Formats: sequence, structure tokens, C-alpha cells
Amino acid sequence: MYKYDAIDQQIVNDRARQYRGQTERYLNGELSDPEFLPLRLQNGLYVQRFAPMLRIAVPYGMLSSQQLRKLSDISRRFDKGYAHVSTRQNIQLNWPALESVPDILEELASVQMHAIQTSGSCIRSVTSDHFAGVAADELEDPRPWCEIIRQWSTLHPEFAYLPRKFKIAVNGAAEDRAAVGVHDIGLTLVKNSAGETGFQVQVGGGLGRTPIIGSPIRDYLPWQHLLTYLEAILRVYNRYGRRDNKYKARIKILVKALSPETFAEKVEQEWEHLKEGPATLTEAEVERVSAFFTPPAYERNLADNSLQEQLAQAPEFARWHERNVMEHKIAGYAAVTVSLKATAQAPGDISAEQMDSLADLADRYSFGELRTTHMQNMVLADVRQDQLFELWQALAEVELASPNIGTLNDIICCPGGDFCSLANAKSIPVAEAIQRRFSSMERLYDIGDVSLNFSGCMNACGHHHVGNIGLLGVDKKGEEFYQIQLGGSANQDTALAKIIGRAFSREEIPDVIEKLIDLYLEQREPNERFIDTFNRIGIEPFKERAYAKAD
Ligand code: HEM
Ligand code: SF4
Repeated sequence: MYKYDAIDQQIVNDRARQYRGQTERYLNGELSDPEFLPLRLQNGLYVQRFAPMLRIAVPYGMLSSQQLRKLSDISRRFDKGYAHVSTRQNIQLNWPALESVPDILEELASVQMHAIQTSGSCIRSVTSDHFAGVAADELEDPRPWCEIIRQWSTLHPEFAYLPRKFKIAVNGAAEDRAAVGVHDIGLTLVKNSAGETGFQVQVGGGLGRTPIIGSPIRDYLPWQHLLTYLEAILRVYNRYGRRDNKYKARIKILVKALSPETFAEKVEQEWEHLKEGPATLTEAEVERVSAFFTPPAYERNLADNSLQEQLAQAPEFARWHERNVMEHKIAGYAAVTVSLKATAQAPGDISAEQMDSLADLADRYSFGELRTTHMQNMVLADVRQDQLFELWQALAEVELASPNIGTLNDIICCPGGDFCSLANAKSIPVAEAIQRRFSSMERLYDIGDVSLNFSGCMNACGHHHVGNIGLLGVDKKGEEFYQIQLGGSANQDTALAKIIGRAFSREEIPDVIEKLIDLYLEQREPNERFIDTFNRIGIEPFKERAYAKAD
């Protein structure tokens, strides 16, 4: 993974020092609330319902065991002993005191971490595939490109005050595990007929109040031009994006207003000035950055039959292996998803003890590295197959072995009304009620792959628009209700879910979800996933079932 050089380190050290001064001046009354606001936002600090929320950047989800240990330490000393993995692969702390944030930033800087550009109207932390570099279906590792974008966008003076926040995702595999379609810019690595690397470029995707899937504006951008082309897109956005209305300020609104074709033309015109300019990438630069992502020292020719035996002998291990273990491109290895979705634990939360244990397991079994996922789980990406059984046992000891990845209980869920001042309704207890309803593992496996995404308000932090089943908290005259949407997808077949009808009360939700699932089970054809059945039979039968009166 990328290691800071002296310049990177100085940037984060300076920033932590600067923010200490800013906080002191605010607390002394020398800075007013409106003066302090942009300063704290530039350092990832939101003011929330009960306490501030600090968002810590985890660029493209990569974490070292040392960083995870530090996060654990910070969560113990400055928070309530846990952290939250967000849908943009970042880590959020829900209870830090405003006065202690400078200390937290200093601690973070000591392990090459920070909160720069994790909020505010700037280019946010770049996201990617959590199996980058190890996935068998990968065309090329997206991480060096993410890192190049990170270095270019961090404190980029021209893009520090965009009309709104700006999110970029890069995917390098056949399957889209980075949700590129719902990002301001979605980049997909492709090869041309000569086998040269380039990018397919999508712009104007995003969720929130106006969910839109990004439009492709270029099928093949040669890699040398990655930064100059991004610069062109951002310049067009910076110039024409609306600043008069926050709700119409995202690039998606501009692309829609102009049409993707006109937007693309403007980008091409702008690019004329920038193409071949100083930001043009060279082979030497790409090699410099790629050197940080060379494969770890894999052992070759691992001859071992123990896995098959263990799978046959331990059904619970076999279940976990089936759901949480993914194929690896190196023979003898596997990628493991560590579920942060145990029932009765807020989705995406991880305790300090679990962080410490997971850091140790990463050292022991996965070259000291981990990743966070946009589904709010974690990944140990390079585990020897003959050590999976041991790892599984160790994970089970710290309640990190829930075998539910990709199932209905692997719920993506924002913090909702329990923490967030923008929420219309609570989400965490409702997610738990659904998990309890589907507590039978046999039933959960029979249902198979289905994504349930949940947001407490239309800001869509929980990505409800792209869930096969989406839940949205709504306020009806001061009461909490939940709207259900169906048919969304965040993969290569990105689709926005459709609302089925009037919202339900909290008590009704588990029943309604069950009815929808039952209908799917009745209607499905062999090997059909929930989303396939939905796409084949349409929304009407689901609507009818959801609102049918009990006999
Ligand atoms: C608790 C404090 C939080 C606040 C105040 C907050 C605020 C917001 C706001 C205002 C938006 C809407 C932006 C827009 O106009 O499109 C948004 C969207 C979003 N937030 Fe949060 N959020 C919070 C927590 C979270 C958490 C916990 C997560 C991750 C689980 C998260 C991840 C996201 C994501 C992924 C979006 C998607 C928007 C898009 O793609 O367009 N946020 N958030
Ligand atoms: S979706 Fe709404 S309720 Fe949930 S975290 Fe985001 S802003 Fe808060």
C-alpha cells in the first residue's frame, strides 16, 4: 500500500497543527460559528445531533494493521470505544469532543492518516473495489490510479471551492464493486484493441435528493491523459455548476441540464487547453506509484488438501466459506470479507477490541493489510487457503464471523435518527428487526443474494436508491415512516429503485419485507436472484403483495 514520503507527512502534520490553532481560536471566541464552519468541515468535522462526527479518510479503502490499531486506540481514548465504516470506505467517529479533535488529528498523522477533504465542497476521498489487486475478474489494479488521483486532488487549489462535494470512483474488474455509476465521475479501466490501458469515463451520477446514473462521456481515454481530462471535467463543473441553490449544485444536475452530449463537448473544448500539459502522466510516474502496489510475497505451489476436508467436516465453516470467502487470482489464496453485520450491532460498527483483534489477524494472515468496503464491511485480501479455518475460528472468537455476506442481513444502513440530525426516522433498530426476522440461516441462504440498503433521509447515505430493496425513512406529521423501493442495483447493471407506494410504520416493516421475499421465493425460476425475478415479473406483483390485507 502507499507509504507517505516526507512531503505527504509534512502536509498532514502541518494540517493537524493548523487545525489546533483554529480550534483554540474558536474556543476562545476569536472565531465565530460561521468562520469556524468551513475550517472544521475541511477537516471532516460535522456537528451532529448529540456530538460532532469526525470523518477520517481511508483512500480507496486501504488500511494497514498499524492504522487500524491506532483507530482502535483513538476510539477508546477520544470516543466511545467503537468506529463506523461508511458507505464511502471511510471511518467515522460519532462521539468525539470538539476540543479533542486536534489531538485526534495529530494521532492520525502519526500513522499517515487524516481527515482532509472528507467533507466540504471539494474532491472527496477516492473509492474503489475492495478486492482491487486480488480479484480474479480484474483487468488491471485500480489502486495506483486511485493514488495518482488522490495525490493530484489533495489540496488542489483550483478545486477547493467547487459548487458542491465531488466523488470519484475507479473500478478495474469485470464486476463493478465500486458503484461507479453513482459517482460524480466513475472511471472504469478498459483496454483498447492494441491492449493499451485507458478509462471509460462516466459523469453525473449520484444519489441523494435527485438520484441519477452517470452518463458515459468517453469510451476510451488513454491513461496518459487521466489527470488532464479530470481537470477539464472539473473546470467545466466549476465554471457552470450552480452555486445559487445547494440542491441543484451537484455535477449531475449540470450534466442533465446541458445534456451529456453538450457537457462532453464542453469538456473536450476545455481539454484542448490542458491536453499534453504539465499534468500529463508519464510512464515513470505511473511506475513510481505502482511500485507501492506490487503483490505481497505470496507463497507459491501451496499443496494442501486440508481445506476440502475442513469444509466437509465443519458445516458452519463451510457456510462462512460459501458466503464470506472470495476467489483470489493467486492459486492457494483467498480474499475474506469480515462481516460487520452481526445482528444487534449497528451495521458497519466495529469495537475497539475487534479492531485490535482484526489488526492482529491481518498481521498473522494477510500481510498486515486490510480494506474497508462500501457495503460497510472489512476485507482481509490475501489469506492462504490452508489458514482459512484458523482465521475463521479466530474471527468467531471476536464475533466477526457472521456468515452473511451478500444476504438480506448484510444491510447497508446509515446511522439515521440515532445519531444524525438530518434524519427523518431511525434506521438502526429497524435494520435489527429485519435481521431478527430473518435469523434462520437456512432461510437466509435459500433466499440468496439480495441487497437491502437503508437511509434515514433522502440524502441517501445508505444508498437506498441502489438497493434491490431500498428503505427510506420519511416524516409524516412528526411520525417516523418508511418508504420501500425495489429494483435498484449498484453493480455493472446499475439501476435506480422504484417506490412501491405509501410508506409503512416501523412495526409493519419486517412483515412487509417478508411478504416481498415470499413472493420472490414463489415466483423465482432456478438460479434466479431476487433482482432477476424482479426484473422479469416487474413491480406490480410486489406492490400487490406488499399492500394485500391479511386473510
Ligand atoms: C451522521 C452524520 C452525517 C451527515 C450530517 C451526513 C450528511 C450527508 C448529506 C447532507 C448528504 C447529501 C448530499 C447530497 O446533496 O447529495 C449525504 C450523502 C451521503 N452520505 Fe452522509 N451524512 C452523515 C453520515 C453518513 C454516514 C454514516 C455515511 C455512511 C454510511 C455517509 C455517506 C454518505 C453517502 C455515501 C452519501 C451519498 C450521496 C451521493 O452519492 O450523492 N454519510 N450525507
Ligand atoms: S441518510 Fe440522512 S439520516 Fe442517514 S446519515 Fe445521511 S443525512 Fe443522516
